[in-house]
Amino acid sequence: MSKIGIFDSGIGGLTVLKRLILTLPNEDYIYIGDNKNCPYGDKTKEQLWEYATKIIDYFIKREVNLIIVGCNTVNSNIFNELIIKYSNIKIIGVIESTIEKVIALNPNSCLIIATKQTIKAKKYQQKINEQNKGIQTINLATPLLVPMIEENNPNIEIILRNYLEEYTDQVDILVLGCTHYEIVEDKINKIFNKPIVSSSAEIVVKVKCYLESNNLTNQTKGKTEIFTTGNVGKFIEASSFFDYNNKKVSSLDL
Ligand code: DGL
Repeated sequence: MSKIGIFDSGIGGLTVLKRLILTLPNEDYIYIGDNKNCPYGDKTKEQLWEYATKIIDYFIKREVNLIIVGCNTVNSNIFNELIIKYSNIKIIGVIESTIEKVIALNPNSCLIIATKQTIKAKKYQQKINEQNKGIQTINLATPLLVPMIEENNPNIEIILRNYLEEYTDQVDILVLGCTHYEIVEDKINKIFNKPIVSSSAEIVVKVKCYLESNNLTNQTKGKTEIFTTGNVGKFIEASSFFDYNNKKVSSLDL
């Protein structure tokens, strides 16, 4: 039987959870949005470690048997260290499957947008070029986006245009290297109408394979618990894209 823990700095990981519930509706999920510490994109590795280990320790207390890191910033900065510390629990991140998708598309060039710390860690660039040196990557930190998405800020289209417009003719594909960005993908599409690879999308197949090959899939409809370490009302307001369908959001003090 599976119980899946998934976390992010805020509402971004809900884009992963939404896809997981659609594909794997029978599993039990516990989601944590660490809004108290959001955004993660400008935090040090030490801070990210403190936040992620607190969350994972909570998941372990709740007897979760699969953890999904729904945050590129944590994935690209401390993922290997987390795997070593928590070697007896399966942890899956969003980056690996996103890179597999980029390699499969085999573009000449791609623009990767992500938080400051994700870009600084250079994980996307390194891993793409380890597998295919011919793909040119342009790596762009877009630090204004996560706070604007969390605030539901209506001016985000102007900011997206400022970030992206100059690259539209320069690259073949765009990689959304932050799980928050899928929330504004329709707005991004208006500016950049070429293929988009979202880091929220590809992990679902990996999770399904893992559960099936380990006989962990549940047979009857599962339940989903959603927590935020921040303000519950703000969390729900900013995540209107998520179908709550009787799922309640509760406050969590870690
Ligand atoms: N959704 C997180 C990510 O994928 C956002 C990190 C942040 O809070 O800056 O990187």
